Amino acid sequence: MQAWSHACKKAKQRIGFVPTMGNLHAGHLALVDKARQVADKVVVSIYVNPTQFGENEDFDNYPRTELQDIEHLKQKNVDVVFMPDSSEMYPSDKAINYIAVPDFATELEGLARPTHFRGVATIVKKLFDAVQPDHAIFGEKDFQQCLVVKHMVAEYGLAIEVHAAPIVRDADGLAKSSRNQYLTPEQRKLAPVLYQTLLGARQKVRAGNLSYSEIESQSIEFINKNGFKVDYFVIRDATTLGVPGETNRVILLAAKLGIPRLLDNLRVD
Ligand code: PAF
Repeated sequence: MQAWSHACKKAKQRIGFVPTMGNLHAGHLALVDKARQVADKVVVSIYVNPTQFGENEDFDNYPRTELQDIEHLKQKNVDVVFMPDSSEMYPSDKAINYIAVPDFATELEGLARPTHFRGVATIVKKLFDAVQPDHAIFGEKDFQQCLVVKHMVAEYGLAIEVHAAPIVRDADGLAKSSRNQYLTPEQRKLAPVLYQTLLGARQKVRAGNLSYSEIESQSIEFINKNGFKVDYFVIRDATTLGVPGETNRVILLAAKLGIPRLLDNLRVD
């Protein structure tokens, strides 16, 4: 992988990189399109990273659909599909040098999944070292992940431009996600409530008549009434994930519908 990347750099070709865990859907393919727009060569990695799964999370049963994924990527004329194995990514699996994550990584997704973001930051750094990209594209659906990656890139002073690509949605507003395949037909019908509530909350924030906490609790109540169990629904600063001011705000949510836990978010400004 590194030899190929060095040859590209010598030929002054810019590399765009899309890291994935496979099981690709239209959301991932939009990231590939973005990479194609900003770079000359496109690399996609497929690697199901064990260190970002918690003890109770089902690493072994994570859907692995490599052949189908490669077919999709061929259609997109991707230049390289990088599929390392764990002996390459974690050669000394007893002594992993984890990357430290910022405080905001312990909140929201980090509360539900305490070791998740250090696993993400660590594997993304390793993948960056292998692929040596000029541009890296991540989906904004994983909003907190994008911020963790940007933080890691700044910490190491990497010459990589990180792009957060807009969420791709089904026609009824449900954000594309590998987890959607686990929704029953009845649950799938309910799922657009999440996006509708985000839109409603954004309107309320912009109108400015209610406090942020009133908007959050009304939204949680509405989503729960529709059969979900909301984990969080918060209005935050879009750069620090801290207390929001009057601009640069984002609304983030996670909610369970039966087994699947769905994430979504919406920028206010
Ligand atoms: O978003 C994902 O699919 C993963 O967290 C990533 C960025 C590929 C790291 O394993």
